[in-house]
Amino acid sequence: MNHIYPIQTKVSPVQREALLQQRPVVLWFTGLSGSGKSTLAVQLEAHLHQQGFKTYLLDGDNIRNGLNKDLSFTDEGRVENIRRIGEVSRLFVDAGIIVLSAFISPFAADREQVRSIVGAENFVEVFVDAPLEVCEQRDVKGLYKKARAGEVKNFTGIDSPYEPPVQPDVHIPTHLQNVEESMEMLLSFIRSRISLK
Ligand code: PPS
Repeated sequence: MNHIYPIQTKVSPVQREALLQQRPVVLWFTGLSGSGKSTLAVQLEAHLHQQGFKTYLLDGDNIRNGLNKDLSFTDEGRVENIRRIGEVSRLFVDAGIIVLSAFISPFAADREQVRSIVGAENFVEVFVDAPLEVCEQRDVKGLYKKARAGEVKNFTGIDSPYEPPVQPDVHIPTHLQNVEESMEMLLSFIRSRISLK
């Protein structure tokens, strides 16, 4: 961009990591509405925090109430939503924090863009997987019913697409196991990555 001159900080990411005594990472939860993204991200963050890790949770509904309240659920709105969250996640990684990001993030290209924004070595894709019928049956927020009735437009899985990850780092079938089992899958994957005991 023209006439933009980033400053050089005197504190490096490596120094921040050393101070915080942890390796940052972005745990990116993707999946349909009602698949269990927030449930797992909330539970995992609480566990990591209790173990002394410095964490931060970014979640769709929260971010769309603040930073991204100007964005819609059109394809364009979702692309910009995920791009901004990718940039925010990068800032947190730079600060040395373990980030848990829970967004539908329906487009594979956008998730790949986040991977390159935060750095592939810092990105873990977690596919929170439940069939549409199951999510619709759960209908925790009543949004599927509204989408079927035409009261909510561009609803993921109904009249807006979801592209499942082809090779996620962690694949969690939430319709086949309980939260404790899903947590164990997550922990066993990230244990060595973040030096969790
Ligand atoms: S996206 O696709 O990544 O930009 O979506 P995200 O920012 O994660 O926001 C998803 C939450 O917004 C609510 N909501 C909708 N979801 C999908 N489609 C439409 N049209 C829609 N309208 C509102 C819904 O509560 C989503 O939360 P989750 O936790 O996924 O159920």
